Amino acid sequence: MELLCIQSQEHPKLPQGELKAVIECEQMQTNLEVITEGLVILKDISPENLDDYYQILTRRLGYTHEVHQILKTSDISNLNEDILSISWQDYINENFAVRVKRFNSQIDTVAYERKAGSLILEKCDNIKVKLNNPNSLVRLVAFEDVIYVAIEKYHLDKKHFEDIKPHKRPFFYPGSMSPKLARCMVNLSRVKAGQLVLDPFCGTGGILIEAGLIGCRVVGSDVNWKMKNGTAINLEHCGIKDYRTFHLDVRELKMYEKVASVVTDPPYGISTSTGDIDGDDIFKEFFHSIYDNMADDAYLCMASPHYVDLTPMVDEVGFEIVEQYAIKMHRSLTRIITVIKKSL
Ligand SMILES: C[S@@+](CC[C@H](N)C(=O)[O-])C[C@H]1O[C@@H](n2cnc3c(N)ncnc32)[C@H](O)[C@@H]1O
Repeated sequence: MELLCIQSQEHPKLPQGELKAVIECEQMQTNLEVITEGLVILKDISPENLDDYYQILTRRLGYTHEVHQILKTSDISNLNEDILSISWQDYINENFAVRVKRFNSQIDTVAYERKAGSLILEKCDNIKVKLNNPNSLVRLVAFEDVIYVAIEKYHLDKKHFEDIKPHKRPFFYPGSMSPKLARCMVNLSRVKAGQLVLDPFCGTGGILIEAGLIGCRVVGSDVNWKMKNGTAINLEHCGIKDYRTFHLDVRELKMYEKVASVVTDPPYGISTSTGDIDGDDIFKEFFHSIYDNMADDAYLCMASPHYVDLTPMVDEVGFEIVEQYAIKMHRSLTRIITVIKKSL
């Protein structure tokens, strides 16, 4: 069986990297095929795994917009008979809408939506078309001449990423990253629900909120007590209960339990305080103090500016770089997202 993911195209690599990391840490048995940027198919999923995998993906992913179950892989000339061959009553709950999404295809979306809708109605009794807020969404995804006929069984809640934007939280301080990037970084750290995630530069708690929302236990620390308190306020606001916060300098970090993942956005640039540590030394200090607090198979995902070379610092401590992504912020700043693990 197959799941189709429609992904954000705001970055050429991060959405796929995030998806691969989730597949890896959740030990999903599937083969991933990238059709084009923004369109990925997970193939060869066994029927007994399908629902579990579907729910994990919709619960976790930040840079994926929609996930659908493929019912038929068709093409323009066979579409009508392929639509008629599907037992729609098994998938549609009272009412439905058909929506077409095109990738590198010129098909007339409105005409195809109408045509597919009337074929489905022809096939089933007791269902209706409902364009606004339907119970069931039929997705036709056209890529060149291929048309994937798919159904949305579980909805990925994109509204959450709007509702939880930094300025909408009770404790706000400039410099918090976007919730989608924070979610993606948590996923890149290959952590699972129930495991412990640490952010030792927690600021307003943006990263920990995303980790908490996918079911992780979270711990945050910050050299600034206002930030430590603000993180707790924001976590409570988001309904996250399994957390601890500490007021401390990263150099004093001594965790009560080795963590499964570290996800963090260390301070850099003139406007951010680094707790009396000079310039790039904050990164060195951070690597030294974090190493012993991480489980041997833990991953670290962090952001840094392009002009700081992490490689020698990582090598010196006994870490290795797994992957890196560059995000251009403006003309003079590119943010690098780095995934690191212990080199054992
Ligand atoms: C870029 S902000 C983190 C933003 C955070 N991801 C958020 O969502 O708000 C960096 C944080 O590191 C803290 N910090 C600076 N130097 C530190 C140090 N030596 N030890 C621990 N925290 C430090 C600052 O107080 C600041 O809150």
